[in-house]
Amino acid sequence: MKALINISSLVTVASDGKRAKTGSSMRDLGEIRDGAVIFDDVIRWRGPMTEFADACSSLGIAPEELQLDDCSGLTVLPGFVDSHTHIVYAGSRAHEFARRLSGVPYTTIAAEGGGILTTMRAVREASADEIVHVATQHAQRALEHGTTFIEVKSGYGLNLESEVKLLNAAVEVAREVDIRLVSTFMAAHDVPPEFRSSPDDYVRHIVDDMLPAVADIDVLSFCDVFTDKGFFSVEQSEIILQAASGYGLGLKVHADEIAAIGASNMAARLGCVSADHLEYTTEADVDALRDAGVVCTLLPGTAYTLRLPPPNARMMIDRGAIVALATDCNPGSCLSENMQNVLSLACMTLGMSIEEAIVAATLHGAAALRVHDRVGSIDVGKEADMVLYDVPTYADIVYHFGVNHVLGVYVRGEMVA
Ligand code: NIG
Ligand code: FE
Repeated sequence: MKALINISSLVTVASDGKRAKTGSSMRDLGEIRDGAVIFDDVIRWRGPMTEFADACSSLGIAPEELQLDDCSGLTVLPGFVDSHTHIVYAGSRAHEFARRLSGVPYTTIAAEGGGILTTMRAVREASADEIVHVATQHAQRALEHGTTFIEVKSGYGLNLESEVKLLNAAVEVAREVDIRLVSTFMAAHDVPPEFRSSPDDYVRHIVDDMLPAVADIDVLSFCDVFTDKGFFSVEQSEIILQAASGYGLGLKVHADEIAAIGASNMAARLGCVSADHLEYTTEADVDALRDAGVVCTLLPGTAYTLRLPPPNARMMIDRGAIVALATDCNPGSCLSENMQNVLSLACMTLGMSIEEAIVAATLHGAAALRVHDRVGSIDVGKEADMVLYDVPTYADIVYHFGVNHVLGVYVRGEMVA
């Protein structure tokens, strides 16, 4: 058994067993000043130092049996749950970034056969080992920046062979890096060149040939569709998502990033686990997402990189929706694994408070991956995924931006970074 003691700021994100903290409860971090945590692979107790001795005796442990770590001057948070990334890929899009800076829109580059299709060509040519290497580096860097649980989407292969290559790469990353990982099947990320003249045939191919072939791949938990102007229509998306649901996969949607074509409304109707992006989402859509319990996952790094209008987090939180934050780490629209930066961006560009941002990046990320019963807060019985930061208050993590404040990372009670 181990204990972290004398923690200057212990941010528990106490959830009372709930899936989410909505509305004004999102500002309640359950912070304990001068706190302590007793844990093995799960959290056994957490509370103020003044109650530490009593906690030891009621757990039947002599304090000298504990492996103690003095956390004076430090802040401890639950590990970040980054519920939206695309880190299995190959190649670079730095040249497209330079073009975008000179004024060429992301959508123009995509329509010319660049964007996602640039990465698709690189993935189809790459070996499995090359893809694992890229993804392993991203996952390791995410872990070192405080992310203990990550979601990884396929979607740059766009044919059966290459989508399988990507999903298998994700399995390999889960073996090689001490981060916890689930994957998402996203062949409906773009229409590949061989189906450009008949996109409905690609939809059929996904449903008839790809889904049955990938459904049993290890760690695969979700199916996602890019439902947006120039990508997949609501009708096409619904066909794919309904089929995926039949294989027991949870459903996710890239919604309202380029235009509002009804994607978030569809997410509510289908009972998706999350709808992600939401730059152009209306109040009525947010109400539908809220009523259906769909997590609204915001990606401020993408809005920043693509200079999109920032999603209206304030409106979503005030209307009682479950708002989560994630990186969207991918080669084209947001190349960063750093959830500390996502917190800063959320506060500076989405109008979120520091407390709301932390809840969104931990507990609500866990809700977006349906793992909120196990992780996302430092509560008794949850798995001991905790991160030590070299700052005396949690506000410093957000305020002092652009550097890595992480001192140590625990996953299931083991120090892994
Ligand atoms: O989440 N929106 C769609 N997919 C990614 C971007 C993919 C890319 O440009 O490579 C996203 O932003
Ligand atoms: Fe994405």
